[in-house]
Amino acid sequence: MRTFDSVAALRAFVRAARQDGKTIGFVPTMGALHEGHVTLMKRAKSDCDIVVVSIFVNPTQFGPSEDFTRYPRDLSADSTLAQRAGVDALFTPSVETIYPPGDRTVVEVGELGIRWEGERRPGHFRGVATVCAKLFQIVRPDRAYFGQKDYQQLKIVERLSADLFFPHVIVPVPTVREKDGLALSSRNAYLSPEERRGARVLSRALNAARDLFDSGERSGSALESEMARVFAEDPRAEVDYAVVVDADTLEPLESIHEKAVALVAAKVGATRLIDNILLGMDFDAKRQTGR
Ligand code: PAJ
Repeated sequence: MRTFDSVAALRAFVRAARQDGKTIGFVPTMGALHEGHVTLMKRAKSDCDIVVVSIFVNPTQFGPSEDFTRYPRDLSADSTLAQRAGVDALFTPSVETIYPPGDRTVVEVGELGIRWEGERRPGHFRGVATVCAKLFQIVRPDRAYFGQKDYQQLKIVERLSADLFFPHVIVPVPTVREKDGLALSSRNAYLSPEERRGARVLSRALNAARDLFDSGERSGSALESEMARVFAEDPRAEVDYAVVVDADTLEPLESIHEKAVALVAAKVGATRLIDNILLGMDFDAKRQTGR
């Protein structure tokens, strides 16, 4: 595995691979890699000849009171995991490389970024979209891999890729979970053992909604009440939102006709966690057969 911190060197590596007729898969990350990230990398490696992973803790997607400075960073552990996953190139640019002096241009995401995480974290998705556009231009992959774990981010990246005519395909990857259901996240490292037990309530609420959906319930508010009921059982988590929305527009849904997703966000101690579950569609199967 090669590691690059300059745009020119990474581009030369990708150009050479392309000249050899190789396809390029790309997995953007902020490091603190875990099995969720590794699953994206392995999926990329099984689809593409060459896999590029970026590790860049992107300052523009963190709010002023968020955890940018204390976000976990461990390049040597990350390199080991990436190498084992079969990654060919690690791109680890500095903040000045991605945002050089004089940098001004941003990518606004529009309506998909107004609600949910966008409302709670002003500017967050502008930062995500801007850095993804830059990284896509640097790497120019054939396929880029994003976790379903960050569902709103995934939808926004699909939208921006279509709107800006990027030639890559966005490949969504299902959420990887701990045995007890907790979605893997770099931020789980912040949880105390007691908070870690409390964090289970997010996936419990989502599973309860899906059970009710599977038993025939199609009312968005009935499914939301069920999630609220589960959250109320555990005082360790302070629910922020637990909603059922249209899987494409992310607008609230009164009744589910086709595709929906249940989105939850909650604070456990000082740590804010998000999770989601798809209702009425097998995401992976649908994507794989749809392309
Ligand atoms: P990060 O949180 O490091 O996540 C990188 C990728 O891993 C994202 O596509 C995310 O959805 C995916 N991922 C995280 N946890 C996962 C899990 N449990 N199962 C499956 N996939 C998971 O998301 C970001 O970084 C940044 O916003 C980024 C896109 C890199 C832009 O800075």
